[in-house]
Amino acid sequence: MIISYFIKKKMRLEIVSVLLAFSSLSAASQSSSPVRDQDVVSYSLNKSTERTFIVDHEKNEFLKDGKVFRYVSGSLHYFRIPREYWKDRIHKMKAAGLNAITTYVEWSLHEPFPGVYNFDGLADIEYFLELIKKEDMYVLLRPGPYICAERDFGGFPYWLLNATPKKSLRTNDPTYKDYVKKWFDVLMPKMRPHLYGNGGNIIMVQVENEYGSYYPCDQNYTIWLRDLFRSYVNEKALLFTIDGCGSSYLACGSIPEVFATVDFGASVQNAQDCFNFIREIQKTGPLVNSEFYPGWLSHWQEPNPVVHSEDVVRVMKQMLSLNASFNFYMFHGGTNFGFTSGANTNQSTPNAGYQPQLTSYDYDAPMTEAGDPTEKYFKIKQVLGEAEFLVSNEISPVPVSKGNYGKFMLKPVASFFDKVTQRMKPVVSDVPLTFEDMDINTGFVMYETTLTEEQKNISRPAILSINSIRDRAIIYLDNVNVGVMSRVKGNTTMSITIKSTNEKLTILVENQGRVNYGNFFEDRKGIIDPVTLNNLTLGPWKMIAHPLNETSWVSLIEPVQSVQLPAFYKTTFVLPENTTKCLDTYLDPTGWTKGVAYVNGINLGRYWPLGGPQVTLYVPGVFLVMPPASNKLVMMELEGAPPDLSVKFVDTPNLNGSITV
Ligand SMILES: *[C@@H]1O[C@H](CO)[C@@H](O)[C@H](O)[C@H]1NC(C)=O
Ligand SMILES: *[C@@H]1O[C@H](CO)[C@@H](O)[C@H](O)[C@H]1NC(C)=O
Ligand SMILES: *[C@@H]1O[C@H](CO)[C@@H](O)[C@H](O)[C@H]1NC(C)=O
Ligand SMILES: *[C@@H]1O[C@H](CO)[C@@H](O)[C@H](O)[C@H]1NC(C)=O
Repeated sequence: MIISYFIKKKMRLEIVSVLLAFSSLSAASQSSSPVRDQDVVSYSLNKSTERTFIVDHEKNEFLKDGKVFRYVSGSLHYFRIPREYWKDRIHKMKAAGLNAITTYVEWSLHEPFPGVYNFDGLADIEYFLELIKKEDMYVLLRPGPYICAERDFGGFPYWLLNATPKKSLRTNDPTYKDYVKKWFDVLMPKMRPHLYGNGGNIIMVQVENEYGSYYPCDQNYTIWLRDLFRSYVNEKALLFTIDGCGSSYLACGSIPEVFATVDFGASVQNAQDCFNFIREIQKTGPLVNSEFYPGWLSHWQEPNPVVHSEDVVRVMKQMLSLNASFNFYMFHGGTNFGFTSGANTNQSTPNAGYQPQLTSYDYDAPMTEAGDPTEKYFKIKQVLGEAEFLVSNEISPVPVSKGNYGKFMLKPVASFFDKVTQRMKPVVSDVPLTFEDMDINTGFVMYETTLTEEQKNISRPAILSINSIRDRAIIYLDNVNVGVMSRVKGNTTMSITIKSTNEKLTILVENQGRVNYGNFFEDRKGIIDPVTLNNLTLGPWKMIAHPLNETSWVSLIEPVQSVQLPAFYKTTFVLPENTTKCLDTYLDPTGWTKGVAYVNGINLGRYWPLGGPQVTLYVPGVFLVMPPASNKLVMMELEGAPPDLSVKFVDTPNLNGSITV
């Protein structure tokens, strides 16, 4: 994603020439009319035995097997949608007239620990590609390795922060490159049979990701990466880059001999203006908008952005009349389940201006978070139908039924301060350590220090100072909450009154998502600098991590009458007897304050109805179990539960609640 108001630290204006690379390819041109949907029907229609996807620099078109080809694609991320729903979402996109799907590949999902690989379930990208092929659609693959995507750390695995030198990411640094190569040596052989030239449906493969938005502008790195991609892809698919609408983005982001494309949204007056920037560096070839935004990303504590269908349709029509190919980012957003959402921040002062992204990635996209087509979907479909793309009328405008499963009471289980919840061995250090220092990826770390006589004797009230909190801290004196400090609000100091009887100061720090975009994104979490009380440096510290990857142990603990916050709560519930299918539903945590919810062991993500604007959490029906089996609900609440400890499962999402904190 490009967020154009962030200012580039370094603008290199030398123009990269990418003109000559494709001259050998244009000979294959021999087609008549532009081929759209007709072309997609079957691979077996190909006259020649060789499958090729190339650029024709005379016609300024793509050629697929020698025939003119244009695509209208939609972004759909397998890692944001339950695997059981992939087929449905792909099918609906096809029905809207799209002939291709664009997906990122998320490194952190597939290599959660160095050398440990995951391609199962939600990570089964090959199955995802097969489903797209079964719909006779093509794929634009974006393997990064950095992907932005509003995901934690832009899709990089957290362990890279420990494994590589500072400021080495996305540069020519040998250690960083070594990890990229090891990962691609696992991923790319799996992708090879899916490349168009090898009989698959991947027509294009992106090299890096909006590299021109990143300060190093290190062409030695991008050329190395290009050559690495070439070694796997050969000419079996077309390599391409994507950058923002502006000369400086394209100057640093385009790579010699790699096909350059641009991205821009529905707010531009004229699509041609952005394509002109491409023409500055690439005189010929088809015009492509690789990220056309029919919606926009959203942050906690900020109103949801809205993109109007009229603007989407207006710019679509401009692009179609220019014979451009384009990709909707996103056509269907889905959900940042668990702790997978990322954050933006102010590039010049990364500890301020921090904007963590919502659990929902609804994105105001043509299909909702739950996969239902919106009014925007049907407007887009109409335009594509008029432009002779293959649309289908089988998709109903009526949303799929949702479960209104009612109200359930939870019971308190145990507090973060109780030993039973402290699953990680405490770490002791004179200075506070970051999450990464302790090899902790997600969740919370509780920093505890015992107050000395001198510290207790300090003038009252005293100023507690934490220069960099990443990202939100609750301060406790002897387990009593005395206030919150937050990176979003730019807090670095707080006044606290310590009594001579106080023994313990605790700072509970939440990781709200690693920055995924821009020049600053080595976003180590926790407390980065020494903590002081007036001028006294506090410590030593005992650090207890609550990564919250796993909550099955909660069901083994007997509930209690009452509990001190932050705490775990639980209940079980059975769906109505007459249930024939578990429907999608929404967890409504109204009355609760801030925390994380789990259904049947699956982390639904963070909830924060007071932070807003997202109130409800999407619960796909496939996460639930049929009666008479009972569903397990666990909630970890930080700051305040309602008196009756109830939650509801409702049939309507609320992503536009008020922002009250
Ligand atoms: C790129 O590589 C060349 C040749 O090895 C070297 O002279 C140059 O300094 C490198 N540039 C950067 C930015 O590292
Ligand atoms: C678009 O392609 C058609 C042929 O399909 C051609 O007649 C027309 O001139 C092209 N328009 C532009 C703006 O290139
Ligand atoms: C980022 O921080 C700088 C320095 O504090 C400030 O001048 C600027 O307005 C901020 N930018 C944004 C986009 O908030
Ligand atoms: C506490 O403060 C008083 C007055 O400021 C001072 O006389 C005394 O030495 C202090 N005690 C300690 C343990 O620092």
